Amino acid sequence: MIKVLITGGAGFIGSHLSKLLIVENIPIRIVDSLSPQIHGALPEGLDWLADERVEFIRGSITDRQTLEAALSGITHVIHLAAETGTGQSMYEMARYNEINSQGTALLLDILANRRDHGVQRLILSSSRSVYGEGAYVCQACGDSSRRIFPGARSAVQLAAHQWNPQCPHCEASLVAVPTRENDPVRPASIYAATKYAQEDLVRVACDALGIGYAILRLQNVYGEGQSLKNPYTGILSIFSTRIRRGLELPIFEDGLETRDFVHVEDVARAMCACITSPEPVNKVINVGSGIGTSVTDVARLLAISLQRDVPIRVTSQFRLGDIRHNVADITLLRELVQGGPQVALADGLDRFTAWVLTQPLPEDGLERANAELRARKLMA
Ligand SMILES: NC(=O)c1ccc[n+]([C@@H]2O[C@H](COP(=O)([O-])OP(=O)(O)OC[C@H]3O[C@@H](n4cnc5c(N)ncnc54)[C@H](O)[C@@H]3O)[C@@H](O)[C@H]2O)c1
Repeated sequence: MIKVLITGGAGFIGSHLSKLLIVENIPIRIVDSLSPQIHGALPEGLDWLADERVEFIRGSITDRQTLEAALSGITHVIHLAAETGTGQSMYEMARYNEINSQGTALLLDILANRRDHGVQRLILSSSRSVYGEGAYVCQACGDSSRRIFPGARSAVQLAAHQWNPQCPHCEASLVAVPTRENDPVRPASIYAATKYAQEDLVRVACDALGIGYAILRLQNVYGEGQSLKNPYTGILSIFSTRIRRGLELPIFEDGLETRDFVHVEDVARAMCACITSPEPVNKVINVGSGIGTSVTDVARLLAISLQRDVPIRVTSQFRLGDIRHNVADITLLRELVQGGPQVALADGLDRFTAWVLTQPLPEDGLERANAELRARKLMA
């Protein structure tokens, strides 16, 4: 009989996943600290945790006793609990390492040392950020099939508004192509470094312990229920608050940077498939839509969906550690989940904004988050 432990299950992705598993009649237990940065000082909207089909433990994955209790009687673990702010991670290294890397190590340490555990599979929510810039080609060099993996853009490059990574051979602007799971990994932020550390820990430990695993590299996940209170991550949340307040939308760089937006329901489906598949996945899988959308376009679509006309201002400002483009190759995801991703961006945005309008209007924390980055010379 399957019983699933979801760490960080009260968060954005965790709550969708939990509700999906409940519908599938799969018993779940959640361990979550209800971090104030994500849920606010007085967490709201978590009534569903009291559902009789949900076992909920409030506690941190950095606490051995909490994790030991949470793992009792569990067959499958979906490990979501993490700190997730890329910019914030660049000046809160120790906290990000403690929760993301050490928290994962502790989970595995318990599995290695508690012989009576029943865990058969572990699913890790990793991040596309581990790729750094990801895959590009040069259309000027003559061989546009040769894949190039540029390093992080330097402060000097960005200050000169040289937004696109350059070809190491002819210095032309490179063109992004879908990044594959076997492409090189190059984390460009502490957050990404901790996500990659999680991947290595899970792969090595699960292989050694004979536990099946899946490492899902999530792209930009969006949808109903994403934190509207966390100013450090979630571009659609941040923009939706500004649109509701009638504030302009400042877009970094030249606004043409792209992201691969995937609806949270498609992510939950992929995680569920890793639980129910006849054999464990035992590999890395990109979870995205396979479509790159520019940040300017998504800002426009969001304003249209919210039926508000706010100025969109391309600022030429930049953050160190940000990637330029992102689109995932989702061939493996299509093998895992029949039909692949189901929610088109326009539909997903309408669902997201319909939900946003039912929520209290949050403070706009963007200026504060940017000021913290500027003070540390991580944004200009
Ligand atoms: N949302 C995205 O776009 C995205 C993209 C790539 C990867 N991911 C990964 O997916 C996972 C879930 O992301 P999310 O968007 O749902 O984030 P979220 O912030 O909404 O949820 C994270 C949950 O973890 C809990 N948590 C934090 N620290 C904890 C601790 N020490 N002990 C127990 N619980 C703790 C929080 O209270 C929260 O409920 C994370 O591992 C994240 O790195 C998310």
